[in-house]
Amino acid sequence: MLRFAAAAELLEADFWIQYNELAGIQDPEVPGGTGNPAYTDALNALDEDMNVYVHDNTDDEITHHTFLNAYLVSKGAAPANLDPFRTLMGSTATGVNPALIGRRLTNLTQLTIDNSWWTRYRDDSHNPDLDPNHVFPQVVPTLAVNQHTAIPRTDADTTDSNFLQAIANTAAFHFPTIEQGGNSLYPSMALRATSVEVLRILISIGPTETMHFQTWSDKAGNAPALTAVDPVTGVSVTFPDLSGGGKLFQNNLIMPEPCPFLNRNLPICSIIRPTQTQGVAMGVVNFLTSMGLFIGQSPAFFALLTQLAQAADRARREDDDD
Ligand SMILES: [Fe+2]
Ligand SMILES: [Fe+2]
Repeated sequence: MLRFAAAAELLEADFWIQYNELAGIQDPEVPGGTGNPAYTDALNALDEDMNVYVHDNTDDEITHHTFLNAYLVSKGAAPANLDPFRTLMGSTATGVNPALIGRRLTNLTQLTIDNSWWTRYRDDSHNPDLDPNHVFPQVVPTLAVNQHTAIPRTDADTTDSNFLQAIANTAAFHFPTIEQGGNSLYPSMALRATSVEVLRILISIGPTETMHFQTWSDKAGNAPALTAVDPVTGVSVTFPDLSGGGKLFQNNLIMPEPCPFLNRNLPICSIIRPTQTQGVAMGVVNFLTSMGLFIGQSPAFFALLTQLAQAADRARREDDDD
């Protein structure tokens, strides 16, 4: 399980580093980029500290995979290593680390973002663990179809301020979409841990993903309402005004609404959801793949991720008989 977690954190760190090079605070703690002022300004339109949060989220992810791999090695186990797959192009816009052009693990330029977590956490009558067939509506439906870039691909993407804001808004919805995944992954894996030390690792890292998710879910609600068309692909995206959207959509309702938990005969409860453990690692791989995060990766990459996920999903708590 920890090797899969380390691989997931390597992937997280890879795309957060791309965001940080372009839109984070540039400092020696997370070195490499030089910043893209126009893209940074567009993201900071949502909150003046967006660049601070991007930097700190990136720093956190780097420490997550570094710690997990070091822990594995300290126990005589093999670390997760995705270095052979650092082959994707990434952005060539001003601000990126030139040494990493063509050496990315993840693709931020063709994303299809399932943003139904927005309503999943505002719905008091459905829990995906109890209602696996319930469809939670998307808050930005156009982001959940077609392919969108979350970073300027080239400097040409920064010339139209409306399209650049759409790119920044796309990133702002990608951040919580990713972090809510970690927010469910760690508790789901913790339910399978036998070693108290492994459990301690999972329940100590997991809530930091929740802190990321909570921050980003708040900021995404500040995305300026707009419609833009990608001049390269012709794809349109519309960010709605969410200020008067009612309980399921309103942008200041950022606390998790209580929902049914374990059994509908029990009172509703404010919780992380989903947390069912069945096939959770493979579920994460499928979620990230259908998001488009790995477009351009090789069959060997998918084979390795699948192998790591299946091994993680085979882990069972030793006294668990189901
Ligand atoms: Fe992480
Ligand atoms: Fe994270």
